[in-house]
Amino acid sequence: MCGIVAYVGNRQATPLLLEGLKRLEYRGYDSAGLAVMTPDGLKIARSVGRVSVLETMVENMDAADGTLGLAHTRWATHGAPTEYNAHPHTGMTRSGHRVAVVHNGTIENYATLKKYLTEKGQVFDSETDTEVLAKLICELYQGDLEKAVQAALREVNGTYGIAAICENEPHTLVCARKGAPLIIGVADKSYVVASDAAAIISHTSQVISLDDHQVAKLCAGPEDRLGDGGPWSVQFKTTTIDNIPVTQEVTRLDFELEQIELSGFKHFMHKEIFEQPDALRNCLRGRLDHRDCRVVLGGLSRYSRELVRAKRFILTAQGTAYHAGLIGEYLLEDLAKIPARCEYASEFRYRNPIIEPDTVAIAISQSGETADPLAALREARDRGALAIGAVNAVGSTIARETDAGVYLHVGPEIGVASTKAFLGQVTVLTLITLYIGKRRFLSDEVVRTYLRELERLPNYAERVLEQFDSIGKATERCVDRDNWLFLGRGYNYPTALEGALKLKEISYIHAEGMPAAEMKHGPIALIDKGMPVVFVAPQGSQYDKVMINIEEIRARGGRVLAVATEGDQAISNYADEVFYIPSVPEPLQPILSVIPLQILAYHAALLRGHDVDKPRNLAKSVTVE
Ligand code: M6R
Repeated sequence: MCGIVAYVGNRQATPLLLEGLKRLEYRGYDSAGLAVMTPDGLKIARSVGRVSVLETMVENMDAADGTLGLAHTRWATHGAPTEYNAHPHTGMTRSGHRVAVVHNGTIENYATLKKYLTEKGQVFDSETDTEVLAKLICELYQGDLEKAVQAALREVNGTYGIAAICENEPHTLVCARKGAPLIIGVADKSYVVASDAAAIISHTSQVISLDDHQVAKLCAGPEDRLGDGGPWSVQFKTTTIDNIPVTQEVTRLDFELEQIELSGFKHFMHKEIFEQPDALRNCLRGRLDHRDCRVVLGGLSRYSRELVRAKRFILTAQGTAYHAGLIGEYLLEDLAKIPARCEYASEFRYRNPIIEPDTVAIAISQSGETADPLAALREARDRGALAIGAVNAVGSTIARETDAGVYLHVGPEIGVASTKAFLGQVTVLTLITLYIGKRRFLSDEVVRTYLRELERLPNYAERVLEQFDSIGKATERCVDRDNWLFLGRGYNYPTALEGALKLKEISYIHAEGMPAAEMKHGPIALIDKGMPVVFVAPQGSQYDKVMINIEEIRARGGRVLAVATEGDQAISNYADEVFYIPSVPEPLQPILSVIPLQILAYHAALLRGHDVDKPRNLAKSVTVE
């Protein structure tokens, strides 16, 4: 979704802002822009399309020199993706100085504010809510940008991560957040502000994460201006929007620059698919205690009693994380014997849910910033649930708002199509299940088996990846078909959903996932000669029933692709293409059986000529409703 980069320091801002925007491209956007404070005032460039278009525009602009600036990638919400709707948006103060603002989030009362500002004589150039904010800041400006931003934000309902600069204060950057992430990188003689750490890590790993309703004033300039010694000095101050001073801790980012670079891979999705064995190793590291036959989850230890006596679990997420949550539902009921339901966070938060005593709510999210799981978690917690997070991004909003949690530790995921995060999510939910199950009634013998099998998963994942090319060949044979079905039963049903989501989001092929038995209740009417139907069919309790379903598809001419257990030669008599995974207990199968489906989707997208890492209309992190 939208991205923010802003800079104040002793270096030229323009190249730095463009580099930051490129690092945010993976999040999805449709237009981009930047503003730089030059000796002649603000210079602004905005364009539709890729950051490279903006870059060319800036190259052709005269003198965009300056050490203060802000930039943005926009994913349209209010108004079409046009140049005039792209950020930064500007306004003019009564003193005749321009203010430029970039904003992520949505201003819910923008129509009321726009009416008020229009009556005051302000004229609007765009259809955006952000321009309203920019003009409001100007209206309230009395020589101090920080105060004007605070005052404006007190009038605003909605969510925001913003950065603002004013021609009257050429060394000052003001930023603020509520419900949209904003991080301040503290570098030598400069500050880099961004909505995503990916735009900061090449400059510094020292960061400050703003909390909701907080405003930061960042100044960097020559000593004679700031008057506190040295040729160049920096100043930093955080307050609330009510101007109450707050102290913010400087923390360290938990990843390195190379983790967010392609490192020889063609796409991030390609890289991340191949990172999965190591992602699993990192996710499991230090958590499997074979000696005492238990799972160690330090992040849950304070609440272990509440977790063990919980009467119900609610898992809530969106997209791929929702599919992981569905597997969590099966795991908790099957192994820990606790009633569990996974719900779309977007539905849960608005359906006035009943939260009984001793309920635990788990929000599952790679980014930890997705709007709906965050709101669902707040809703559940306000109604008395214990709030747990299963999150990848360390220090993200969901991670910070939960009572306790377990990080995925799979490393930054840049590819819009989630891959390694899914493995991390399912693994973490398995660990949580064993953590609780062991304290309830799971025998040591059962727990020991799972610990042993979990330990083997990274090597098993490597084995599955060896089929990368052969899965590509199989994909080639049916990639021309526009409708696909993905079927599975039990633990493999959510995997079927995930396989369908992967295929549709990057190859734009229409795909549906469903329980294999559901097919007979309508969708079977779709089957005609050559229609690809992917069965997630490793050996397990429902294997024979799945085989019957495969027969039913074959009888109608469908083309069967199957994910099966190594050694299952029989299935090749029924399926046109078979992808194998090593034999593991049923509850662990999704961690492996999803990998061939990710590879299939990847190849399908390439074969159809699509940009795998920048699928149309999609954003990596959906931070608005
Ligand atoms: O960051 P989150 O895990 O909360 O994101 C949830 C979904 O938006 C995400 O999984 C989405 O469905 C992916 N594009 C799927 O590949």
